[in-house]
Amino acid sequence: MKKDLVTEYDLEVEDFHSIFARSRSLKQFLKEGRPHGTLAGKTLGMIFEKASTRTRLSFEVGMYQLGGRALFLNTKDTQIGRGETVADTARIMSRYMDGIMIRTFAQKTVADLALYADIPVINGLTDLLHPCQILSDLFTIIERRGDYTGLKIAYIGDGNNIANSWINAAVRLPIQLTLACPEGYEPHPELLRKGKREAREGIDLFRDPVEAIEMADVVYTDVWASMGQEEEQEERAQIFKSYQINQELLEHAGKNVIVMHCLPAHRGEEITSEVIDGPHSVVLDQAENRLHVQKAILEILMKGDKSNG
Ligand code: CP
Ligand code: NVA
Repeated sequence: MKKDLVTEYDLEVEDFHSIFARSRSLKQFLKEGRPHGTLAGKTLGMIFEKASTRTRLSFEVGMYQLGGRALFLNTKDTQIGRGETVADTARIMSRYMDGIMIRTFAQKTVADLALYADIPVINGLTDLLHPCQILSDLFTIIERRGDYTGLKIAYIGDGNNIANSWINAAVRLPIQLTLACPEGYEPHPELLRKGKREAREGIDLFRDPVEAIEMADVVYTDVWASMGQEEEQEERAQIFKSYQINQELLEHAGKNVIVMHCLPAHRGEEITSEVIDGPHSVVLDQAENRLHVQKAILEILMKGDKSNG
């Protein structure tokens, strides 16, 4: 059976562990200049319906370092943009390639692509989720803190794709998750309900960022207006004002807190320059680790022979 990464639920706890262990090795191999062409001759198709810097670069460079290659497909320049169905696109890409990474709006597009493709499909961000980001962030936490078990992670801001992916991760792994979101901007209700029911260490949603951040080991934020919400930017800037991660708010977190942001950041909105450039920030490690962690994901999903299904 081929394996996809459409949601965090596609991974068992052991898969998380294998990805983190392999990411560590791959990061070391790269540092030492040790060749690791485990995907020689393989091709990844990358469909982008939204902008990207990190995701595109890390997947493209990652495939190259693994001995394969990546093809960038902008939907506007392909027949997808002219209405060719997801199912047909999936079937055709399966005849040429060994894997697909897609960044798009609807989660259903990724799920359908995975359904009709014979090759692994990786979610490179939807309106609902961003699994590759959260896997890389967990790896960064392991690097910094040794382990994530029992850590308190406070997500402050919009209940968007990043918040939803943290909720799914908290169901699979023993992390304590608190969120603070303004009314009307909470995470996806079904994912939150499931998360609250199933997360071992608990998930708590607050209105007040101070309550959520109290003694947190990790403070995480993201933009207030995600891709596709640009028109709401100004309105959201007003609504989210008191959710900014600044030095004053950070005083409430634990002493050794690490500050995370998936980037790109809107400095002066969801986070101040002082904090994002400050001693607690690990945002550049997060961005770098996208490369190592996604290489591990690509290997694990794409190493198998296509003919094995
Ligand atoms: N964090 C992230 O996914 O960045 P890009 O939008 O630049 O890919
Ligand atoms: N929530 C952001 C994440 C960008 C990586 C967005 O969807 O635009």
